[in-house]
Amino acid sequence: MNILHLALELITLAHSYVQLFAPRLGDILTYPKMANRYYLDTMGCQMNERDSETLAGILEQLGYQPTAAAADADVVVFNTCTVRAKPHHKLFSKLGELRRIKQRQPNKIIVVCGCVAQIAAEEIRRRAPYVDIIIGPRNYSRFAAALAQRRQLGSSGEPIVVTDDRETIPEGLPVCRYTEISAFVNVTYGCNNFCAYCIVPYTRGREQSRQMTDIVGEVQSLVAAGYKEVTLLGQNVNSYGHDLAERVDFADLLAEVDQIPSLARIRFTTSHPKDLSVKLLAAMRDLPSVCEHLHLPIQAGDDEVLTRMGRGYTYAHYRGLVDAARQRIPDIAISTDVMVGFPGETDEQFRNTVRAFEEIRFSQAFMFKYSDRPGTRAAQMPDKVPEAVKQRRLEQVVALQNDIAREINRQQVGKVFEVLVERADPKSPGKMRGRTRTNKLMIFPGGEDLIGQLVPVQAEAAYLWGFLGKLPSES
Ligand code: SAH
Ligand code: SF4
Ligand code: F3S
Repeated sequence: MNILHLALELITLAHSYVQLFAPRLGDILTYPKMANRYYLDTMGCQMNERDSETLAGILEQLGYQPTAAAADADVVVFNTCTVRAKPHHKLFSKLGELRRIKQRQPNKIIVVCGCVAQIAAEEIRRRAPYVDIIIGPRNYSRFAAALAQRRQLGSSGEPIVVTDDRETIPEGLPVCRYTEISAFVNVTYGCNNFCAYCIVPYTRGREQSRQMTDIVGEVQSLVAAGYKEVTLLGQNVNSYGHDLAERVDFADLLAEVDQIPSLARIRFTTSHPKDLSVKLLAAMRDLPSVCEHLHLPIQAGDDEVLTRMGRGYTYAHYRGLVDAARQRIPDIAISTDVMVGFPGETDEQFRNTVRAFEEIRFSQAFMFKYSDRPGTRAAQMPDKVPEAVKQRRLEQVVALQNDIAREINRQQVGKVFEVLVERADPKSPGKMRGRTRTNKLMIFPGGEDLIGQLVPVQAEAAYLWGFLGKLPSES
């Protein structure tokens, strides 16, 4: 090779090197320090957990990588909850912790999204003026644009606020799932019920059902990626379909999803007692993948309190639903949400709630003290129950429910359950954890090869949280 050839070779090489790296170099020149990291903190319910998977999907598509510390992140995202006063206040204490860091790192972009963002943009601007983006739960299709705009504007000035609760939620936003075996799938967004105490209809907007084909398509792709279980999510899944052109309801949707081959289990939450149909109970009985678990929030066991809450059912109606469910599906586990100390709740009315718990014997309950949410009807109601009384009532119902749940679990020791194995138990080496169809946690000795499988596990010891078990072949 003569010297001319060598020179030509080198020029060609250099040229392809530039071509190969030019786009990246260009990026680096446009956005200095762009090995970007994001920190995402999720508060609240499963809706927020699912939304955070979308937020993470958007960030990762933009080239951001996750980090476990807000201090290291270029973008810090708080996905927030305001269902009670406590998570609302928690956001502001977390933002307070960031104040100094933001002073030192003014290019760090702070985003508040989720339910607090939707209803409290003004409060966020007043109490944490260094927040860069405030974006409501229906507006995540505009998240990437808001980030780009903020980067262009720099860190000074007014925050970008996007809180349009009438926006239709688009299909096909990127998603970065946190779990491998079991996934959340939205069925409806928003809520139309306006229970007197509840902020959710104000934070999430009016109810919108997803098209059945979109839901089924999402589940099909999850199954293709190896998922074995889906939990269908909505504030009131039983009203699914009322706003669709096609005349379909939630039972029809379950039947469609049940047809998907290789999907082992379907769960759903939340069912509203005023809309739960016999058709749905029949679907739960007849469709093999639908788990024997019904989450049916009672909220109170007293008719007058239920009326003032605007729940739209009586205790007798609720009781009738429980009986109808147990008649059709004998092994069904029924769980609930309850609230004590609703404005005006007397000792006697509270005792009716206690009696309801004794009669029904829930497998599990999420129990709360009523918390005033500004803007709701209940916030205007007289006769607020003193904190100490609420606390006492909560402790009483928690103690009762814990006894019941332990007893229900104890009665099932020795029984063999079908368990969907989700992961290794982080606290006990050599043990795996999974759930029964009735949504009880089971921890048992086994190897990671079992992850994603349905295995029979015998319950050996019962606890409040579930069971310790063993594979039946073990002695
Ligand atoms: N859509 C679901 C509930 C979503 S909010 C349903 O209709 O059941 C989850 C739970 O938080 C509610 O079931 C209720 O028990 C509780 N909750 C809602 N607002 C509350 C408030 N203001 N104070 C205390 N608990 C509340
Ligand atoms: Fe809130 Fe009632 Fe809607 Fe549930 S159904 S989200 S409690 S308003
Ligand atoms: Fe969920 Fe909290 Fe919003 S419970 S819907 S994240 S207010």
